[in-house]
Amino acid sequence: MSIKKNGDKTGLPTASYFWPLGRYQKLYSRALEDPEAFWADQASDLQWDRPWDKVLDWQPPYGRWFVGGRLNASVQCVDRHAKSWRKSKVAIYWEGETGTTRTLSYSDLYEEVNTFAAVLKKLGIGKGDRVTIYLPMIPELVVATLACARLGAVHSIIFSGFSSQAIADRVNDSKSRLIITASGGYRRGKILPLKEVVDEAAAACPDLEKVLVIKYTDHEAPFNPTRDVWYNDLASAERTFVTPESMDSTDPLFILYTSGTTGKPKGILHGTGGYLVWITKTLQWAFNPNDNSVWWCTADAGWITGHSYVIYAPLALGLTSVIYEGAPDYPSINRWWNIVDKYSVTALYTSPTAIRMFMKFGEDWLSAHNLSTLEVLGTVGEAINPEAWEWFYKNIGKENCPIIDTWWQTEAGGFMISPCVGIQHYPLKPGSATLPMPGVDTAVVDANGKEVPPNTTGYIVIRHPWPGMLLDVFGASELYQQVYWSRFPGWYVPGDFAMKDSDGYWWLLGRSDEVIKVSGHRISTAELEHATVGHASVAEAAATSKPDDVKGESIVLFVTLCADTQPSDDLKRELVKHLRTVIGTVAIPDEILFVDKLPKTRSGKIMRRVLKAVASGTAIGDMSTLDDQTSVQEAQEAYEELKRACRGTGG
Ligand code: WTA
Repeated sequence: MSIKKNGDKTGLPTASYFWPLGRYQKLYSRALEDPEAFWADQASDLQWDRPWDKVLDWQPPYGRWFVGGRLNASVQCVDRHAKSWRKSKVAIYWEGETGTTRTLSYSDLYEEVNTFAAVLKKLGIGKGDRVTIYLPMIPELVVATLACARLGAVHSIIFSGFSSQAIADRVNDSKSRLIITASGGYRRGKILPLKEVVDEAAAACPDLEKVLVIKYTDHEAPFNPTRDVWYNDLASAERTFVTPESMDSTDPLFILYTSGTTGKPKGILHGTGGYLVWITKTLQWAFNPNDNSVWWCTADAGWITGHSYVIYAPLALGLTSVIYEGAPDYPSINRWWNIVDKYSVTALYTSPTAIRMFMKFGEDWLSAHNLSTLEVLGTVGEAINPEAWEWFYKNIGKENCPIIDTWWQTEAGGFMISPCVGIQHYPLKPGSATLPMPGVDTAVVDANGKEVPPNTTGYIVIRHPWPGMLLDVFGASELYQQVYWSRFPGWYVPGDFAMKDSDGYWWLLGRSDEVIKVSGHRISTAELEHATVGHASVAEAAATSKPDDVKGESIVLFVTLCADTQPSDDLKRELVKHLRTVIGTVAIPDEILFVDKLPKTRSGKIMRRVLKAVASGTAIGDMSTLDDQTSVQEAQEAYEELKRACRGTGG
């Protein structure tokens, strides 16, 4: 991939084709002017059992794509490659944290998916059943996911850092019949006792029938013979073929729980045909991979990035991927770069948090690694600060790789705003996700829904349905309508602030709702507060965030205690432990401040911007005033009072 320098003062990569954006513009316009024809063309790359009758059935707020079409997701990802010249092509290079490696070709993957699907069938799993998957990043995670898809069972993958209570809530909400887990996983040289965590969860799941356990770690994991089954006891040594269920394009493929503005995570429900078209096309447009690419998306499959760009899109496109189980800097800071070198990775897609972590170690250690195979780099999860962008561009990409800053979210299925080197090269601006994908009709509006002029901050809205859009919130359609579609009727509201500059470039400026992003992971203030007040000593809690050099944001908790409870460091430690147990490691606050009272409006609403200003150590006047009902004076008084209170407790 050749990139010319634009010769201006930034020295940043720029267009092979120059302004105006010829090819990009053509695709973008066509997708909005004639969506039916445009998406029919795009969808023809998949293998359909039956063609669709209608490209889009739009009954706001429900968009259904490729209605009447039938296909199976596991066929897209394995069968059609295993039956082509790609059968011996590597699908996955896997590396465990302990150094164990496995290489799976497309035909290996095909066999494993069939064997796994046969095991699930023996356990009575079939179309429409929900299956929870709680696994480390091992090849079986991909295999189990595709095996569910093969049978038409709806998977709900839970990130292996979540606690037993978080699992139980998700299993009960999705009414899963089965949990697939492993004896354990490895993280930083220690064993994660996944089976123990699942056992605790299962005790609180009355409708759960079975736990399927993959033997992975060496330790002795507990086993309940009436409920648990070892995968190896059911897996046939013989080759097996399981007929893939021909699914409606609009049938659900998976549920993925994510944080929103409520205390309870929402089960985001994604469909089959539209989702697969969206993620494969967006990956091609943004990163332009080909059959010689070695793709490495470092996300855990427990997050949407892993679903779309570790599992489904790269496999559906027949790419070779790297999957690594462990921590980026374990056992040393060289780990990731050894992997890039060893597997000749050509595309590395990661998070700003990881980049900032590596930046802390300087550049000297990087010279030991050959990174010259890299052609393209990408980031996701939060806005990338220009310093991290420049560092990534210079030290990892050696000024030869464009940085694909992809803005999207769990609900979107795949990239929404991102550079598209598969369509056209155009100048990049560090910190901007650049331009919307073809088919994404974006605008920035004020609180009344009126479009704002360039360079003005407002709410980002999407004005036209897109194939990757969520189907619904599982079991909570009223939430779906209210959270995403009620504020500006007919438009989808992602919940981010954004700004479009005078060149038409998009800058994503963080959440406009009560969602915090810690290392790019979503957690809502409501969820944190709900969990914190569950502790016997806590009367009230309010959560906010402050900027963090590595994690982007970190959690700050303001807590008022019950009468006759004294604040202490022990109590802080206990609250941390409590949050780890109730939610998981993502919920651990950086700071807990004990105060006598929380800043509230007369109507009893917590003054969030006061909390945020105190937590961040900024002046209250610096905060955005969009949407705030509080008078400046009231906020100022509350701010001073809270600051004094925090000083008083030595917080
Ligand atoms: C934020 C992750 C700026 C944003 C795929 C969004 C970003 C939320 C970017 C979704 C980016 C993600 N620039 N902000 N490139 N990527 N975000 O559901 O606030 O875990 O709404 O999906 O992450 O987080 P989620």
